[in-house]
Amino acid sequence: LSSRFLVIKLGGSAITVKGKPLTPRLPIIKKVAEDLVKLYQEGFKFIVVHGGGSYGHPIASKYSLHKGFFHVGQLRGFSETELAMRDINHILASSFYDAGLPVVPMHPSCMVVACKGELTDFYVRPVKLALGLGLIPLLHGDVTMDVKWGFSVISGDQLASFLAISLKADKLIFGMDVKGLFDRDPRSHPEAKLLRRVNVKELNLIDLRVSEGIYDVTGGMRAKLKEALKVASSGIPVYLGSILEKGMVIKMAKGIPGDYTVILP
Ligand SMILES: Nc1ncnc2c1ncn2[C@@H]1O[C@H](COP(=O)(O)OP(=O)(O)OP(=O)(O)O)[C@@H](O)[C@H]1O
Ligand SMILES: [Mg+2]
Repeated sequence: LSSRFLVIKLGGSAITVKGKPLTPRLPIIKKVAEDLVKLYQEGFKFIVVHGGGSYGHPIASKYSLHKGFFHVGQLRGFSETELAMRDINHILASSFYDAGLPVVPMHPSCMVVACKGELTDFYVRPVKLALGLGLIPLLHGDVTMDVKWGFSVISGDQLASFLAISLKADKLIFGMDVKGLFDRDPRSHPEAKLLRRVNVKELNLIDLRVSEGIYDVTGGMRAKLKEALKVASSGIPVYLGSILEKGMVIKMAKGIPGDYTVILP
């Protein structure tokens, strides 16, 4: 693959209103699509993975899907989550298509098997082959089969990190609704400081006890950093930044200085 090969995770915190069920942020999605078109035209190759936001987390939480299968009543919840994730995936795919991108939606429930909530088996060949053709794979956090738990919830963060490592991306970008990694949750602490450059050693020292996502069944910022740590440790820089303003995806893709966090090996 090209030397400008990115894995881009679009946070559910940015592309949906996370506290309001089934509410997309269409203007943000449109801005992101426009940024991606520019990158595509400049020869960047990328895989896009998006999170659940208010399409995934509230339903998965209602049926405790992240705890695995323990009651037959959860099965309809599994269906409901899968259908909602396909809805938000379709909203993004349509927007990307309208902007001119050759997008191809891919559903992890059909490509992934987990073990105790960890992504173990991922059939990535369709992703790799599609990329090679010039298509843009669009995946999403999903409910998947789990050999120990029956099923589990696999986050967009986990999928993005797995893809970045296994397909050897040049960088992984986590787009969110906050400017990056702060020394504490900026939502509840307005005085929190943005950490612009962090290495793996420093990341291990950051206190993340307060960084659980409020509406996030997959562990919020804390779990995101666990994935970032794996990726950065494998030699791939990880960017975390807000995608609420136009141009931010491009800035992070090109490494243009700005208000965001870079996690280095
Ligand atoms: N130390 C921190 N620095 C930055 N953000 C933090 C921190 N601790 C907690 N957060 C919260 O983490 C949130 C981002 O993670 P979250 O999992 O909620 O969103 P997401 O991953 O974009 O959404 P989704 O899981 O639906 O894709 C931010 O909105 C912020 O409030
Ligand atoms: Mg999350």
